[in-house]
Amino acid sequence: METIQTLTKTFEFSEYISILELSYILASVLFILGLKKLSHPDTARSGNLWAAAGMGLAIVFTILFHKTKLEDGTYQGIHNIGWIVGALIIGTVVGWLAARKVKMTAMPQMVSIFNGMGGACAALISMMEFPRMQNELAGHQATTMLNGEALAILLGLMIGGVSFAGSMVAFGKLDERIGDVKSPVLRYINLSFLFILLGFVVFIMFKSPVAGENWMIYTLAGLALVYGVTFVLPIGGADMPVVISLLNSFTGVAAAMGGFLYSNQAMLTGGILVGSSGTILTMLMCKAMNRSLLNVIIGAFGGSSAAGPATGDKTVKEISLSDAAVLLSYSQKVLVVPGYGLAVAQAQHLCHELENLLASKGVELKYGIHPVAGRMPGHMNVLLAEADVAYEKLQEMEDANNEMNNTDVVIVVGANDVVNPAAEDDASSPIYGMPVIKVWEAKNTIIMKRSMAKGYAAIENNLFFMPKSRMLFGDAKATLQKLVSEIKNL
Ligand code: TAP
Repeated sequence: METIQTLTKTFEFSEYISILELSYILASVLFILGLKKLSHPDTARSGNLWAAAGMGLAIVFTILFHKTKLEDGTYQGIHNIGWIVGALIIGTVVGWLAARKVKMTAMPQMVSIFNGMGGACAALISMMEFPRMQNELAGHQATTMLNGEALAILLGLMIGGVSFAGSMVAFGKLDERIGDVKSPVLRYINLSFLFILLGFVVFIMFKSPVAGENWMIYTLAGLALVYGVTFVLPIGGADMPVVISLLNSFTGVAAAMGGFLYSNQAMLTGGILVGSSGTILTMLMCKAMNRSLLNVIIGAFGGSSAAGPATGDKTVKEISLSDAAVLLSYSQKVLVVPGYGLAVAQAQHLCHELENLLASKGVELKYGIHPVAGRMPGHMNVLLAEADVAYEKLQEMEDANNEMNNTDVVIVVGANDVVNPAAEDDASSPIYGMPVIKVWEAKNTIIMKRSMAKGYAAIENNLFFMPKSRMLFGDAKATLQKLVSEIKNL
């Protein structure tokens, strides 16, 4: 009779476990489908929701169905439900408010903080699990730490710690709270540091410290944090989006370590997806800037604040609002090339208004999108989608370039580096080889910006001095507003 009861119980709990595992598989499928949907602006929003639903499902089912097998063969559910639910509520409220309040231009900062939190979680999991391994050694359930479990714990701590500290420095730099520290010495120190960290992980595994010998894990945590700071500190402030994407992939790998540790498929799949997509995004950004990842990490490129005005004896030609209005109204094909300045000015809605106004006059307006225009991947796409610009109106760089000769007017709205001819004709330029939108090949080019200040790469732009270029100085939003009124009054 007792055996039957035990069997029934076991069967019951096995069922719980299989429900949990099924929920993890479903969560993983939702992550993958969500990620797939993120690749198109029309489906990106729902993709985000799908992935979030997957995460929600994994969390709820873990709380409800996770059981630990005790020594006496019985199963025990999750403890501390109050703490877990409390933490979930606090996290949700903080995340919700932050996401609602954040300005589009401060998005990279927020991503950076959230990513840092992910890294910290992965590191904390390792800090909690390491003493368990030590206890197993003390209780003779294990004889050594030379195994995959210990490696997952130690790497989770190392990578999570680096990701947390690095993301915090990246946040500080993006928010201009921390300046650039361009020291070649720091790069060599960093390289040595990386070897020391990896060596220390191997040392801990060989040493297999028993309970009480906690200094090793604390030292590893401390070293990882210091390395995270020194790794990001010398990288140019404006290169932070690439660094954040890299740190994001680190966080993914650290979370995947947790997945290995707990044999948790959802955590493993989620971590691997974040790790791999972060790596792909990093490589794509580097490719679009024609720079290697090593050059981003060790190259002193760009600056965190706007550089001073361009000097020299070259002169620029300006265009008046009324002339610009006439030129646009009597054109057939107009191309808007947006850049970081559009995001700063929040001029996307006015671009759309101009598009509609010109359409009513039979003028076709499209947008030429450079893959690294702005400061984060898809920056321009997100802004224009926010202003309800139809996706079909957006042209990729190659298509825009192919049609440039037939374009009557290009309006460059707060873009600089992505329209710099030096990428094509100046082999000494740091952006030489970077694909750019060749706005100078259009019949007329109007450049909207506030001054002659340089862009992200802190280099001069000869476009402003070219024969077909005309400057329309001022804040992009204010200028577009006046331009729209001017066209309406024609
Ligand atoms: P930038 O080269 O940074 O130029 C932006 C221009 O906008 C500036 O020259 C600035 O001139 C102007 N501007 C700023 N505020 C403005 C306002 N309120 N109204 C009008 N104009 C304003 O931008 P870009 O052409 O988009 O190039 C992006 C750069 O960022 C590239 O070098 C790229 O490699 C780099 N980057 C991009 C990414 C991603 S993923 N997008 C990641 C890392 C690095 P004024 O101050 O004179 O107005």
